[in-house]
Amino acid sequence: MNFSSYILGCGSYLPKKIIKNNELPKKLKTSDEWIKTRTGIRQRHIADKKQFNSDLGFEAAQKAIKNSQISISNIDLIIVATSTPDHTFPSTATKIQGKLGIKKGFAFDIQAACSGFIYALSVADNYIVNNQAKNALVIGSEVFSRILDWNDRSTCVLFGDGAGAIVLGKNKKKNSGIISTELYSDGRHYDLLYVNGGVATNQKAGYVKMKGKEVFKHAVQKLVSCIEISLKKNNLKKNDIDWIVPHQANKRIMDMTAVKLGVSKDKVLATVDKYANTSSASIPLTLDYAVKKKIIKRGDIVVFEAIGGGLTWGCSIMKY
Ligand code: ACO
Repeated sequence: MNFSSYILGCGSYLPKKIIKNNELPKKLKTSDEWIKTRTGIRQRHIADKKQFNSDLGFEAAQKAIKNSQISISNIDLIIVATSTPDHTFPSTATKIQGKLGIKKGFAFDIQAACSGFIYALSVADNYIVNNQAKNALVIGSEVFSRILDWNDRSTCVLFGDGAGAIVLGKNKKKNSGIISTELYSDGRHYDLLYVNGGVATNQKAGYVKMKGKEVFKHAVQKLVSCIEISLKKNNLKKNDIDWIVPHQANKRIMDMTAVKLGVSKDKVLATVDKYANTSSASIPLTLDYAVKKKIIKRGDIVVFEAIGGGLTWGCSIMKY
């Protein structure tokens, strides 16, 4: 293998409506203080009833393509990571392909809950390095507000809606671009974080259910171990990491992962305060935020990491 894939550009989209912690329904008997202290969340964006997942993903995709400075006609693979698709089938990816007017290549969805973007990135990277695709559009897009029980304060305060996208291209340089992706799952923990509905169970979309404390414990331990394994495999040291772009589940998980890893918390990029947990959209949303703010620059060593329902988890190391 004498080439790798790399991120040509990124983009994101957030619905206009913002709900601050103190604007949440009174019946939840929650408080800004409780949510901020436990999670770091101050507000979340919520999609309009008329907005579908594909609308959010389409907006993010358009910006990513523009920022990549490639012609839309050069995209031959579209992968959407999502747990909140427009329809049971066809895929949201094909819907976005149609909206973008792309007539070639292939498009499909990936579902790995909050780890979805890392899974999608890994798949796209493999297609590119194996010469089966030239330029991949990888989107994380979610409307979690549609699968939240707005009477359950232990879950509904944690999530938001949004979409982020990247365009992945082929890089001739060695040891540049995506250096490594590591994926894991352990289905024994299926019931720690799940949605209590589905086509084959009750024909309903269902609501998010979570054993928060247990997810927390698994998250820190599994993310640290995954990153350590990946660094070792690639002869990299913790000090080589310039930035960590974590899945934005919760500020305390992000900080504790950095502490246990031995990486400064200053290197952990957070948008959870503004966007809450947007599941598979949270990594590309945070990446786009950091690139726009010129925090992440070309040549930086960046680590993406995520854990979610399944349990699924993984990380990706790249030279941006
Ligand atoms: N507002 C006020 N009180 C609340 C709220 C709320 N929104 N939610 C729960 N409480 C109450 C509970 O009823 C309970 O009250 P009680 O002691 O009278 O019974 C008390 O707060 C403690 O409840 P716990 O569930 O034990 O709260 P905990 O301290 O564990 O914090 C949290 C909950 C923030 C979810 C925590 O478990 C956590 O950080 N978990 C990690 C999982 C996570 O972040 N998941 C995000 C999605 S998963 C993912 O993306 C990987």
